[in-house]
Amino acid sequence: MPAANRRPIVGTGWKMNNLAADAARYASAMQAALSDVDLSVLDIFVLPPFTALPAAAAAFGDMPVAIGGQNMHWAESGAWTGEISAAMLKDAGCTYVELAHAERLKHFGETYECVRLKVMAALRAGLSPIICLGESSEDKDLDRADEALSLQLVTVLSGLAPTHLQHIVLAYEPRWAIGVTEAASPSYVAARHRHLRAVLAERFGRDAAETVRIIYGGSVNRDNAMVLAALPEVDGLFVGRQAWTGEGFAEIVRIVAAHSPKGDKA
Ligand code: PGA
Repeated sequence: MPAANRRPIVGTGWKMNNLAADAARYASAMQAALSDVDLSVLDIFVLPPFTALPAAAAAFGDMPVAIGGQNMHWAESGAWTGEISAAMLKDAGCTYVELAHAERLKHFGETYECVRLKVMAALRAGLSPIICLGESSEDKDLDRADEALSLQLVTVLSGLAPTHLQHIVLAYEPRWAIGVTEAASPSYVAARHRHLRAVLAERFGRDAAETVRIIYGGSVNRDNAMVLAALPEVDGLFVGRQAWTGEGFAEIVRIVAAHSPKGDKA
């Protein structure tokens, strides 16, 4: 059974979409679509591109929607041309930062070792890292998804104390399920989430492991969100394309608020 103190959480990364001026339109579309939904039962985050962060922080100011970056550097400051620090994200209104998205790993050569440094830097700065983990299609086909996930998880969390875990969100995003038509099946997702929590318990103890929210991402849409959100192993959803408009995201927020196993008890 999930711990009662894990609040459901739903979020979206805009990836490389939307200008600063789009943030207000997005926020008011969400607000209008969710006027009859009790948003106090869950946490909501939106991860705009860096240039739209201050506009998004202002646009969502009246709503219980937290803002986060899609990446950051591990150093506090210095000669790192083109990079963004944790302090800069906080300065722009962020409370979250997404780390290790599959597109960062695939196109920009990021490694889980550098993600580990970023996790520590985020926590030091008081940002909550949303850490993406996911096996490749090859790992899935060779039946070694859990081994791949264990290695990723142990690498990115090495050096952390059990008390850090409550500030972390894990986003299970199988790489083969991102940007396609079908999400992973509910039973497959449930099994991977159970595995991730078991690895957390083994490394950090059961109590600390129970504090971590584990959310699912990868081709979530209005048709599959209800079944995925209702799984007892799933603490929330992470949405890409379906949430690139405020109306589209609101549909998923509504579903998570109504169907997460913890949504009405948190
Ligand atoms: P998608 O993206 O929902 O468009 O598949 C998910 C993600 O990259 O987090």
